[in-house]
Amino acid sequence: MCGIVGYLGNKQACDILIDALKRLEYRGYDSAGIAVWDNGAIATARQEGKVDDLRKAVSAGGFKGTLGLAHTRWATHGMPSERNAHPHTAGDVTVVHNGIIENYIEIKERLRKEGHTFLSDTDTEVIPHLVMRHVEEGRDFADAARAALRELKGSYAVGIIREKERTLVAAKKESPLIVGIGDEEYFIASDVPAILDRTKRFIFLEDNDVVILRDGLPVITDMEGNPVERAVSTITWTGAMAEKGGYKHFMLKEIFEQPRAIADTLIGRVTEEDGQLEFEDLSLPDLAKARKIWMVACGTSYHACMIGKHMIEANLRIPVETDIASEFRYRNPILEKGDVLVLISQSGETADTIAAMKEGKKRGIYTLGVCNVVGSTLARECDGVVFTHAGPEIGVASTKAFTTQISVLYMLMLYIGGKLHKMDRTRIKENIREMRTIPHKVQAILNGSGSIEEAARSFLTVKDFLYLGRGINYPAVQEGALKLKEISYIHAEAYAAGEMKHGPIALIDENLPVVVVSPNDSTYRKTCANIEEVLARRGKVLLFTDHESHEMASRVESVFTFPSTTYELQPVLSVIPLQLLAYHIANLLGTDVDQPRNLAKSVTVE
Ligand code: M6R
Repeated sequence: MCGIVGYLGNKQACDILIDALKRLEYRGYDSAGIAVWDNGAIATARQEGKVDDLRKAVSAGGFKGTLGLAHTRWATHGMPSERNAHPHTAGDVTVVHNGIIENYIEIKERLRKEGHTFLSDTDTEVIPHLVMRHVEEGRDFADAARAALRELKGSYAVGIIREKERTLVAAKKESPLIVGIGDEEYFIASDVPAILDRTKRFIFLEDNDVVILRDGLPVITDMEGNPVERAVSTITWTGAMAEKGGYKHFMLKEIFEQPRAIADTLIGRVTEEDGQLEFEDLSLPDLAKARKIWMVACGTSYHACMIGKHMIEANLRIPVETDIASEFRYRNPILEKGDVLVLISQSGETADTIAAMKEGKKRGIYTLGVCNVVGSTLARECDGVVFTHAGPEIGVASTKAFTTQISVLYMLMLYIGGKLHKMDRTRIKENIREMRTIPHKVQAILNGSGSIEEAARSFLTVKDFLYLGRGINYPAVQEGALKLKEISYIHAEAYAAGEMKHGPIALIDENLPVVVVSPNDSTYRKTCANIEEVLARRGKVLLFTDHESHEMASRVESVFTFPSTTYELQPVLSVIPLQLLAYHIANLLGTDVDQPRNLAKSVTVE
């Protein structure tokens, strides 16, 4: 999704802004632009393509100044092109925007009748026109900006500057925006990693906040101009955590960070000795008395929900209903008092997940966020939050967020099990002990993963993959298939293995690779039978198992083993080789692994 950065201080803005844009590249974009203010004049540049191309374009000079805005655009209204790239200007007002202005057509029509001319196909372009119009009415800049924003329906994070004054006005509604506070300098950004190397001190703006940055202290108001107080938070993530650290891609680095990420997610929350679990911000009565638990999310985080359902229903006998966030609120779900709504999101900014959270709050049920980003909308607005301590996830394809989400859900299961006396202390202690072995087991998979890269070479001309798994490994294979399709652009479908004969079996021939996760659990025999069915049709099976002597091993194309663990924790291990398979195929094909086409890291529009 679009990325916004802004700077006001005593250093040259251009390099600071372009460096910050580079760090937002992971969000996904198709064009980029910059505006730099200098003594009453604004120089702008914008173009289709990468931030590096923009850097080259501005390196010729003419971009001197200590105030500016920059933007990466992910097209929603209008094709990727120079004319649709941000910033957009009207009169002396220049704007960058993330979000969607839902009533832009009617505003455009109205302004056109008043004589305004529009140069792009974007919804954004109405914003500078509205601000300029209010400036011309005689309002001061901040007031004109607020008046313009009050006319908008939809979502936005905006940065606005004008030629006539050294001021940056920024605001947010349902799109993320933070303010970074440095030494006599201020930043705005869509996300913390953009400016982590510049400051660790941030203000997380709330919806309808407007911040006015001039030399001196920042002023924050509501949309009417009333002052509002916002706390300054200090972030512990370091800039280096958001760097590649010698890996070719962020995704590979993040796959290899999983032992640390999972260990960090457990730290301070589990004590094996007495079988206790502690969470920082949970309402115990609401959770422990839950009549029914809803788990709602998008993409990879939704797969974590499905795994949570398996764990909790099997062990606690509490019904869990899962839903894709974009479906949830439109189907009028039967939410009742005593229900708990768990919302899972790496970014904490996914628009559909936030909308689902708001639906839950509106209906008066307890909302619990499972989230990776401190200060994100989900983290701030849920009634309770449990953080995954994965560290910044930059690659668009989610990896360490997924395995830490499963780890959190596992701990929540033990926590609720203990509180409701549905699991005794001995069992909880055994489960904690097993959980503690998981980082080492993930490390063992990573250490022995060379054969996966070798195997990947055989599939570079393949057009389709089928993924099969059962039980708690069905969402794991769905996740494996999602990883492959999003970064390699190879079509991959995942099915519950028992469902294969109800349709997808028609696809099987000698050209179709079939990835099967088949652990040594109660579904082992059934999955062996499914593998037989694939082999009988000359399908090529890639088997992933924890069984030392899987009976199908000698008959399949290749076998990858992972360590054994309890049923509930299997997906944390089984998904690692699937992440690696997807990564190596995509890397060998030469796709843009960290920023796959058409995708955004943080999907902040519905
Ligand atoms: O930040 P979130 O966890 O809410 O993001 C949800 C999905 O957009 C995300 O998981 C997406 O599916 C990833 N690209 C998958 O790798």
